[in-house]
Amino acid sequence: MSEVADPVGSNKSRMNYSARKRILIAALFVVCLLLLCGATRSSFVTFGQNQVVRRWQPKVVPASAIFVGDQACVDCHKDEVTSQRLTSMGMAMEPVASAGVLSSHKTMKHSIGGFSYEITRKGEQSFYSVTDGTDSVTIPIKYAFGQGKAGQTYVLEYDGGFYESLLSYYNEIDGLDFTIGAQRGIPKSLRAAVGRRLSDGEVVNCFACHSTGAVTGGKLHLEKLTPGIRCESCHGPGGEHINAIKNGGSAIASIFNPAKLSGDEITEEFCASCHRGNDEYSVLQRMEINNVRFQPYRVFKSSCYSDDHRISCEACHNPHEPLKVGANIYDAKCLACHLAGGKPAKGTTTPSKSSGGPFAPACKVATKDCVTCHMLKVELPGSHFKFTDHYIRINKPGSAFPN
Ligand code: HEC
Ligand code: HEC
Ligand code: HEC
Ligand code: HEC
Ligand code: HEC
Ligand code: HEC
Ligand code: HEC
Repeated sequence: MSEVADPVGSNKSRMNYSARKRILIAALFVVCLLLLCGATRSSFVTFGQNQVVRRWQPKVVPASAIFVGDQACVDCHKDEVTSQRLTSMGMAMEPVASAGVLSSHKTMKHSIGGFSYEITRKGEQSFYSVTDGTDSVTIPIKYAFGQGKAGQTYVLEYDGGFYESLLSYYNEIDGLDFTIGAQRGIPKSLRAAVGRRLSDGEVVNCFACHSTGAVTGGKLHLEKLTPGIRCESCHGPGGEHINAIKNGGSAIASIFNPAKLSGDEITEEFCASCHRGNDEYSVLQRMEINNVRFQPYRVFKSSCYSDDHRISCEACHNPHEPLKVGANIYDAKCLACHLAGGKPAKGTTTPSKSSGGPFAPACKVATKDCVTCHMLKVELPGSHFKFTDHYIRINKPGSAFPN
């Protein structure tokens, strides 16, 4: 599932919430205003009681960073470690030896024109092969991207470089089909039938978004790779924290907790570093319906959106737990801001001005299952999957997807 490459390791200057809003409005008239709204930020910030903690950016891992691994956290944060490993993010890349999709499918077959494909399992190894009837290529699979909830794509080492497999596994059809974004149609050569050769920048970016420790100082270090997004991807290297505790230092001042960021910083900077946000709107808007996958970009468009923590990613998703499924679970999240009938929902405190102002209006149509009508599931062509549109809005039947 290819993504448009964005730079890793570059310390992009970031904008704050009001700058983002201003830009959205200004962009309608003068794109040049962009330059005026950028605000550089130091990588050290002071939180509360003069604690100075390094501000961690998940994809800006310095060359000097040494990760200790999530096993080092288990003694003191057992619950987080146990459940986080089983989340989609924890399994964003499957180790081939224990991969669910690959080990449960002894052979998967597909053909395109005269090309026949097979993914076969032998012991703890899987092989991707393609033949045009005369010549054939067989490549051991080393990197299985995605836990396979929507699908799984293979990054293959071939001909001195890395290739994104032309075919991916899709859960819905329980079989192979074209990788999203790949050129559909009969490949022009056996090489093209293997997949698309990735540029060095794309390779770095793929591994930075789907694994931990493999990219430091903007360079690929596959020998240090831990598959999936683990603790230190989001919290930074943990060695200093563990040492501090053992030596009677501060547990809190020695590690980064994203809870200290503003709501907008979590959504549009922290989670958006992989999920992609409004700072990239000029690229994402042009992707049309394909941008439904980029939740920070989508939610920013909603009139619910502000710097308020109740509408930032972690309000609805605990990154240490698997995704909660079912509309009713999210009602309380909406009713933290919206009136239910004429009054605030039970258990909600009146929001203060600083956290979003007075209550937002009630729905005249329904009192529950809010997301079924206001966060539509959108079938993304070619993905065999329905993504949840995080652009919360009133949906008029038959209206086109707003880019
Ligand atoms: C020896 C015990 C110990 C180990 C090992 C340990 N932690 Fe902690 N951690 C603590 C304590 C104590 C606190 C502060 C109390 C609390 O909030 O649980 C803390 C707090 C935290 C916080 C919140 C900081 C804040 O500002 O609120 C994060 C994040 C964290 N740890 C991550 C990790 C990660 C990641 C690892 C593994 C690399 C790890 N810890 C290993 C004991 C430990
Ligand atoms: C380092 C990159 C990275 C960061 C940072 C990141 N994510 Fe993710 N996230 C991923 C990838 C990759 C997947 C897809 C994993 C898969 O399905 O294989 C994902 C999947 C998810 C899912 C889908 C879970 C499911 O079961 O379908 C949720 C929810 C999510 N992320 C929330 C968050 C939130 C909230 C934050 C910020 C606190 C965040 N992510 C930050 C990379 C990241
Ligand atoms: C900018 C960060 C980023 C980059 C770069 C990236 N991904 Fe992802 N990927 C994500 C996130 C976030 C998700 C979860 C949301 C979604 O499905 O789009 C995801 C989802 C996926 C999924 C679906 C996972 C599932 O469980 O269904 C696959 C497969 C995948 N990516 C493969 C790749 C491959 C292969 C590359 C490189 C060629 C790549 N990705 C590059 C962030 C990234
Ligand atoms: C995808 C990013 C992500 C990953 C991976 C992640 N965390 Fe967190 N963590 C967060 C965010 C965001 C918060 C702040 C949550 C909030 O605001 O409620 C947090 C908060 C914490 C806290 C503070 C207590 C709390 O729950 O608020 C601890 C402790 C912690 N994480 C430990 C861990 C450990 C241990 C791991 C690995 C098993 C881990 N985290 C993996 C994003 C992540
Ligand atoms: C107001 C609540 C809310 C907020 C805020 C929110 N989400 Fe979601 N998210 C949902 C719901 C509802 C689902 C679908 C759950 C289900 O399938 O039942 C979902 C699903 C997802 C998925 C799984 C793939 C999909 O499309 O269904 C990912 C990934 C995700 N969210 C990431 C994020 C990120 C990143 C943010 C921050 C920009 C975010 N979400 C903010 C409610 C929210
Ligand atoms: C942080 C507070 C907050 C949260 C959480 C929140 N909203 Fe909103 N929402 C608002 C505000 C503020 C408005 C704008 C009200 C206005 O314009 O008078 C709004 C507007 C709306 C609108 C009207 C949109 C339009 O285009 O006219 C709908 C529909 C809506 N919200 C549904 C939801 C649903 C469903 C959820 C939960 C998934 C939710 N909201 C969560 C604050 C919130
Ligand atoms: C069955 C579909 C459905 C469900 C479920 C639903 N809504 Fe709505 N909602 C609508 C429609 C349709 C409108 C537009 C009504 C109109 O314009 O007359 C609307 C309007 C709204 C508005 C705009 C109100 C205004 O006066 O501007 C908000 C806010 C809202 N809904 C929030 C919610 C919340 C919160 C929930 C869950 C408690 C919810 N909705 C559940 C269909 C639904």
